[in-house]
Amino acid sequence: MILEGKRILLGVTGGIAIYKVVHLASRLTQGGAQVDVVMTEAATRFVAPMTFQAVTQRAVYVDPWQPIPDGEHARIAHVHLARSADLFIIAPATANTIARLAHGLADDLLSSIALSCAAPWLIAPAMESHMWASPATQANVAILRDRGVTFVGPVAGHLASGAKGVGRMVEPEEIMEAARALLGRNGPLAGRRVVITAGGTREPIDPVRYIGNRSSGKMGVALAQAARDLGADVVLIHGPLQVPVPWGVEARYAETAQAMYEATMAILPETDVLIGAAAVADFRPAEPAADKVKKEEAQELVIRLVRTPDILAEVGRRRRELGRPRVVVGFAAETRDLIAYAQEKLHAKNLDMVVANDISAPDAGFAVDTNRVTILRREREPEPWPLLSKDEVAERVMQEVVVLLRQTEGMDDG
Ligand code: CTP
Repeated sequence: MILEGKRILLGVTGGIAIYKVVHLASRLTQGGAQVDVVMTEAATRFVAPMTFQAVTQRAVYVDPWQPIPDGEHARIAHVHLARSADLFIIAPATANTIARLAHGLADDLLSSIALSCAAPWLIAPAMESHMWASPATQANVAILRDRGVTFVGPVAGHLASGAKGVGRMVEPEEIMEAARALLGRNGPLAGRRVVITAGGTREPIDPVRYIGNRSSGKMGVALAQAARDLGADVVLIHGPLQVPVPWGVEARYAETAQAMYEATMAILPETDVLIGAAAVADFRPAEPAADKVKKEEAQELVIRLVRTPDILAEVGRRRRELGRPRVVVGFAAETRDLIAYAQEKLHAKNLDMVVANDISAPDAGFAVDTNRVTILRREREPEPWPLLSKDEVAERVMQEVVVLLRQTEGMDDG
């Protein structure tokens, strides 16, 4: 996991959204990060430093003159904290703190630390909507953005005043997502475009009904996150999803097999890696009705189906002329003869790798969080992986992709 061993400096300022940041600090710590919390005086009025200390298992800094264990005081410690951080998160960030950061003030520990911190900054604002919309705040945000600072939110919703509007801090999960993306941005896939098809497709019968499937899109979304965490520029071409599109991933909606085919072909010349994780319908109704089909007196209804384009097979053909994508990965979901069918797909579709899963097993396949897969590569024996979460499968698949990419490019150079 990308958070493992990372040093995160978490600046906490005085807003009611602070209660969600306790959860964030806990999640970051559980993910393996070392989280050093610096609070403003105002923040301590909402939550005691002890709370953050308990969830991070580390000292919390507030007072610039507070002694720290090695005999220094925190004003000196801040230089060390700031220099050693891999990421600086400020959440919740009040309008006042954003202003102080934009103008380089150093009138408390948090703002002093910020001046010494060269790590990427991630700011999650939280304030009343009129404060967020004010020209002063917007100008301060623009200054920080110009300096390369990343903002996550605020979003519209219920505010502390009881009003509704834009100013609400995003949920901790979204801050986590953005943190992962920033920590990985110089990873082994930096500067690479990874395109992933995900979710199921819907083939219309009439304006109301469709033929669909049980795909939740979880595997494709996990792959998108894993690719993003390795620094890739990720495009997710997706049908209906039961999970949200991850932060930092470009989403393109394609409802039918044909739409997904067109979206994939359009982006192919700029694609380094293509992963087909979508459950694409192999057939569609030949003539979808323009109006809703009425049952009237009919006792049965026959719908004629015709084949849809095989997206991955076409990618496999075109890569021969285009030289792109460099790496193509497919999935095979089967209920019997898993390895034989998956092997056939590897060759027939000109793929580098197939992730095969036996969807008859209760812990694998559609709409569950785990997967038990076997990996097939050219000229290699099939490699069964243990039962893993879909996130772990995704991380391991992307590590394989990095290896495959190096191999193909090594061959080109040679
Ligand atoms: N795929 C695709 N376009 C299609 C159908 C499938 O890109 N029209 C991709 C899937 O995203 C997946 C792989 O191809 O990566 C699955 O291969 P496929 O042979 O189509 O599997 P099934 O649909 O299960 O087909 P079959 O009935 O041949 O088993």
